[in-house]
Amino acid sequence: MTGAAFARIFGSRPQATEAVPGRVNLIGSHTDYNGGMVLPVALPLGVHVAMAPREGSAIRIHSARFGETVTYRPGESPRGHWADYAAGAALLAQTHGLLAGGADLWIESTLPVGAGISSSAAVIVGVLKAARQIRGADLSDTEIAGLARQVENDYIGVPCGIMDQMAVAIGSVDRAMALDTETLEFDLIDLPAALRVCVIHSGIDRALADGRYKLRAIECAQARRAFADRPLCRLRRTDIEAAGDVAEISRRRARHCSTEHQRVVAAIGALKSGDLQDLGRLITASHASLRDDFDISLPPIDRLVADAVRLGAFGARLTGGGFGGCVVACIARDLFESWLTRLLAAHPAARLIC
Ligand code: GLA
Repeated sequence: MTGAAFARIFGSRPQATEAVPGRVNLIGSHTDYNGGMVLPVALPLGVHVAMAPREGSAIRIHSARFGETVTYRPGESPRGHWADYAAGAALLAQTHGLLAGGADLWIESTLPVGAGISSSAAVIVGVLKAARQIRGADLSDTEIAGLARQVENDYIGVPCGIMDQMAVAIGSVDRAMALDTETLEFDLIDLPAALRVCVIHSGIDRALADGRYKLRAIECAQARRAFADRPLCRLRRTDIEAAGDVAEISRRRARHCSTEHQRVVAAIGALKSGDLQDLGRLITASHASLRDDFDISLPPIDRLVADAVRLGAFGARLTGGGFGGCVVACIARDLFESWLTRLLAAHPAARLIC
């Protein structure tokens, strides 16, 4: 984005610009709203946000991708439009005093939408960070992530956890973020140079707002009640298997959350000790749990994951909310090119994201 391009659309210069990455989650799916740990990494792709305050209270938003400018006013509901995320963030910034009045916003993104790599969290965090910059507000990145989650939960209506917002607000591309979503404590772990983390789109589009993510969140809440409102990730396998009158679906959802949390803890250990075989084994086991206990995979994605491993990845799995989108694979850097060529030849609908 150039100041001149911003000026052509809005007639003023931007007063703040922010670059926010997307993220891919190595392991820890659907644990972030169930009291568990996650292990995301920021991506080399992301969002640029430029902002200038303006008279009045309206929020004008321009997307470089769509070549379209739209206006939202305070109190306005989401429209099911690409601009809802930026608008929700700017309107929340107004109600929290982060924005004194209206704003002009320019959004430019290299992240594919609906791929499960946090394009929405990146836009929201970018807008909130730009408002913080202009206001000179004393707000930590963790607080920004909390506000960004509020936009998703309350404005957009997706009952997501806090992983995406924390990962894009704080994460970096060469370090994995071991985040405890209950306490928000985190540790940034260097990724070994020999490891190539790769994101491949399955060719199946998905949208978090399509209801199936929400359904899993409802099922997890039901499972939590069945287990006396204890965080599902903190249950132990024996609690789950021994409980008598728990519906089978609650048992399976709880088993995924609990075993997935344990796999994340083990994966953090494997990453710290450089045991990439073990890391890969845990990642692939995560996929099996998402497929068998959480029911969010699809047969073409199962085949993509199986082939990624068969052709030499340490491990692979579905990442993001589920029902399509991307697969994350961990592979030795020196094998990456030939592995990718063979994988994409076998899966013509799939494509490399990064
Ligand atoms: C989406 C949500 C996250 C998380 C993942 C699944 O990305 O936004 O909060 O629940 O799905 O792990």
